[in-house]
Amino acid sequence: MRILITGASGRLGSQLVAQLQGKHQVKDADIVGGVSHELDITDYESCRRLVADLRPDIVLHPAAWTNVNGCALDPEKALRVNGIGTGNLAAITAQRGIPILYVSSNEVFDGQLDRAYTEYDRSNPINAYGYSKWYGERAIMQVNPRHYIVRSAWLFAHGGGNFIHAILGAAREGKRLRVVTNEVANPTYTNDLAGAIGRLFESERFGIYHFVNEGAVSRWRFARYLLDQAGFANTPIERISRHEWSRPSLPPEYTAMANVAGASIGIRLRTWQEALRAYLDAEAAG
Ligand SMILES: NC(=O)c1ccc[n+]([C@@H]2O[C@H](COP(=O)([O-])OP(=O)(O)OC[C@H]3O[C@@H](n4cnc5c(N)ncnc54)[C@H](OP(=O)(O)O)[C@@H]3O)[C@@H](O)[C@H]2O)c1
Repeated sequence: MRILITGASGRLGSQLVAQLQGKHQVKDADIVGGVSHELDITDYESCRRLVADLRPDIVLHPAAWTNVNGCALDPEKALRVNGIGTGNLAAITAQRGIPILYVSSNEVFDGQLDRAYTEYDRSNPINAYGYSKWYGERAIMQVNPRHYIVRSAWLFAHGGGNFIHAILGAAREGKRLRVVTNEVANPTYTNDLAGAIGRLFESERFGIYHFVNEGAVSRWRFARYLLDQAGFANTPIERISRHEWSRPSLPPEYTAMANVAGASIGIRLRTWQEALRAYLDAEAAG
């Protein structure tokens, strides 16, 4: 199968490339391709040419502007990249009759539900990033019936640049740690998400899926568990409320997600605690 992966240099994109190369007899990066510097999803014509040249059997689309604070400060760019850029790929794949798998976010929800969100709950984004991802979902749904929409949350990946690295880095440097207690979601290991995505598109069951590691947790509890597991059990973490952590993009408060649709076709992700243990073991092994 020939697979085009957008954002192939990103945290999830690079893990998708790593897991799918070999499995799908994809020969080269130019066929798995679509590395971000070669592809600008906001440029319809260059996307159309790339898809025409590579003739993929499916497009996996994790590329996005994921800087949530940047999105709040420049909502037009957020919409252009995450919303309209996704619409470009939706139209191009639809014209060629090929499926598209779009990676979306827990931030399409408003965080006001008193239980975990299922795939069938109403989305209602409350910030610019969430709105841009929601717009991307709508574009995919309206334009290409052969779609998968995979929502995930709080990704952690090897290679830096996420919550885990920030917390462990601060603990190693003996910095004061303050973490929010009233934001809840499902921390998710990119390796597990990439594995689930690989199984999903082989199933050819189109639709909306929530692929997160099992179990929801607050930012504070996640940080506490991480430090305990990583040998920093004596490092204190001050509990603060979300309004004490000032930032341009306020995330929704409670976005636990339930994987109902995936479970119904036998795709489940392990618990976030198991995933975190595997992540720490892999980091320790180098
Ligand atoms: N990170 C999370 O916690 C999280 C949670 C839920 C859902 N998600 C979703 O999961 C997906 C993957 O997230 P991630 O954390 O792996 O993202 P990431 O590491 O920030 O990677 C995003 C990729 O998209 C590329 N990109 C940005 N603008 C582009 C454009 N105009 N054209 C083509 N490529 C472009 C980036 O390239 P450059 O680096 O060259 O800009 C990068 O390769 C995203 O769709 C995100 O919305 C993420």
